[in-house]
Formats: sequence, structure tokens, C-alpha cells
Amino acid sequence: MNNIILIGFMGSGKTTIGKILANDLSLEYFDIDEFIEENTKMSIPEIFKKAGESWFRDQESFALSCLTDGSNRLIATGGGIVEREDNLEVLKNGGTVVYLKASPDKLWTRAGKDPNRPLSTDLASFRKLFDRRRSRYEAAADIVIDTGSLSVERTVEAVKKALEELKSTED
Ligand code: S3P
Repeated sequence: MNNIILIGFMGSGKTTIGKILANDLSLEYFDIDEFIEENTKMSIPEIFKKAGESWFRDQESFALSCLTDGSNRLIATGGGIVEREDNLEVLKNGGTVVYLKASPDKLWTRAGKDPNRPLSTDLASFRKLFDRRRSRYEAAADIVIDTGSLSVERTVEAVKKALEELKSTED
């Protein structure tokens, strides 16, 4: 299997970190949002507008199942992957789950009011969403990386180190 799955709230760096990690670890990079956009031939905002969040979540679960059904992949999820209870089991069985953790304030500076993110319209609801999901990310993760003040490079190094440590405890 050997998949690595990145989880975390909007703005946690899943895409940026994921692409670098995939390259460094010789894994094939996949992005769940991209998979959904290609599969539905619609953009994420378009899906939310025309079909609604629930239909988006169906597509998201389908994408997660498809992408975890393969090996040597780096899979970057969308922030809401922990919304559906069933996804938690798929995550656990699908690979090593790495949670990129950051404070809601930091996340808001990176992803707030982004027109491509239908659920980042105002800080109050952004925070509320974060509070609802935070324990789910923790519960789903094999590794938690506090990205706090780390640069992209440092975050990548921290993930690699944690993966090696995890591997050595499993050997
Ligand atoms: C969402 C996060 C987005 C995207 C969609 C919904 C969420 O992905 O899947 O807008 O519910 O948090 P990113 O985490 O990559 O922004």
C-alpha cells in the first residue's frame, strides 16, 4: 500500500506540502478536489452552487475510495474529508494519515475569503467549522505535525522525520 494521506483544514498546506513530499518520496501525487473536478467536469464552487454540499460530500467519499485503492500514492484530501464518519475508516485503511495542524487564525490568513473555497466566507463560521472538525482530524491521524510557524521546507522535513520514526517503531 504505502500511501500517505494528508489531512487538515483549509489552508493547512496539503497541496503545497503534498507535491513536494510526493516528489521527495517518489510517490504519485493525487488531489481529491482535482479528482472530483475532473470526474464531474465542474469546479468546486460550481458543485456547491448547483448541486449542494451533500452531493459534493458524496463525490468526495467516492474519490477517497478510488484513490486509496492503489499503492505508492500521496493523496491530498480536502479539509472536509472528516465530515463523513465512513471516510474515517477508509482513511485509516488507506495509508499513513498525516494531519497538518495550524491555528484557525493562521489558516484564515491563508485560505480566508477565497472565492474557490465556498466554506471560507467569514471568520466566525470558519472558526466554528474548525472547532467541529479539530478532534476528528486528531482521531484520524497517525502523525500530527504542528505546522505553526514552520516554513514549507521545515514542514516537509518534519513530516519525513515523523514518517521515518513511525516506520522504525513498526519494523
Ligand atoms: C472544503 C475544503 C476544500 C474543498 C471544498 C470544501 C472543506 O479543500 O474540498 O471547498 O469542507 O473544508 P481544501 O482544504 O483543499 O481547501
